[in-house]
Amino acid sequence: MASFFTQLARRGFSSSAVRNLVIKHVTIIGGGQMGAGIAQVAASTGHSVTLVDTNDDILKKSIKGIEGSLKRVVKKKFADKPQAGEEFLQKVLRNVSTSTDAASVVHGSDLVVEAIVENLKIKQDLFGRLDMVAPEHTIFASNTSSLPITDIASSTNRLDRFGGIHFFNPVPVMKLVEVIATSATSQETFDSLLNFSKALGKTPVSCKDTPGFIVNRLLVPYLAEAVRLHERGHGSKEDIDIAMKLGAGYPMGPFELADYVGLDTTKFIIDGWSEKDPGNPLFSQIELLNKLVAEGKLGKKTGEGFYKYK
Ligand SMILES: NC(=O)c1ccc[n+]([C@@H]2O[C@H](COP(=O)([O-])OP(=O)(O)OC[C@H]3O[C@@H](n4cnc5c(N)ncnc54)[C@H](O)[C@@H]3O)[C@@H](O)[C@H]2O)c1
Repeated sequence: MASFFTQLARRGFSSSAVRNLVIKHVTIIGGGQMGAGIAQVAASTGHSVTLVDTNDDILKKSIKGIEGSLKRVVKKKFADKPQAGEEFLQKVLRNVSTSTDAASVVHGSDLVVEAIVENLKIKQDLFGRLDMVAPEHTIFASNTSSLPITDIASSTNRLDRFGGIHFFNPVPVMKLVEVIATSATSQETFDSLLNFSKALGKTPVSCKDTPGFIVNRLLVPYLAEAVRLHERGHGSKEDIDIAMKLGAGYPMGPFELADYVGLDTTKFIIDGWSEKDPGNPLFSQIELLNKLVAEGKLGKKTGEGFYKYK
């Protein structure tokens, strides 16, 4: 008798529509703002998560951050049932383990999500190493904000099982996930990433592997122009922030948002694009941003960026 898949194929269904991988175990590399947020959401939705970073102190901080964030969720969600809330919290925390050695933990992973520093060479090195030890079926995905997924994937031999999965900050709150297919990403991989995003309770949109995908291609030039407007003396940071909140209905002004995203991340994005497209005025260098990054004032995460947070 013909198999179920053969029968579907005969009826005109593509096998890729039914063969996508159900992701249960996820390894998340990078326990910073994004990685910790992705780990929290994946663990909260019943996935088994291994969170990887370079040292135990960072991982302890990540877990503490996840616990604090979960407590806020529990307080709201289980307001009348504190016992059930505590049980949920403990269950979610049990779903997360940590490691400082990615290569030794990927063997059981259906999916590896990378959320480390925004640097092409470092991401390529990581994926190149993991490609040699990860199981055949494991999908690799990057959470990069601005680097081409195709370039990151080029250090591996699993181009068909490589895609982008771009979350937004703060991950537990923001509903959107951009799922990115390169020209080599298989339909199975793409569908698996879409379904994984939905399983996390997010709304995915499909993107091509073009600079900034959808959101950042529109947002980063806007943030950059706000800083230039201020540098030209056309408005204070505070006034520009108020103007965009009250005049455009944005929940945060551009300076608040840049501090929130991280000024280093914002600068990496602009630098990368201006290198590829040097004549484009949208991507030209911004003196004030460069100065703050050189001084280590990276935004909220370091306590100071355009504003002070202590
Ligand atoms: N911040 C945002 O709003 C935002 C939004 C979407 C996507 N992203 C992207 O997500 C990625 C991470 O950004 P973030 O804001 O979480 O940065 P972050 O600086 O908060 O965290 C990065 C973490 O990666 C760790 N790390 C660096 N190299 C590593 C390696 N080789 N192995 C394991 N861990 C390593 C660092 O120790 C750090 O804890 C970047 O690619 C960024 O572009 C950021």
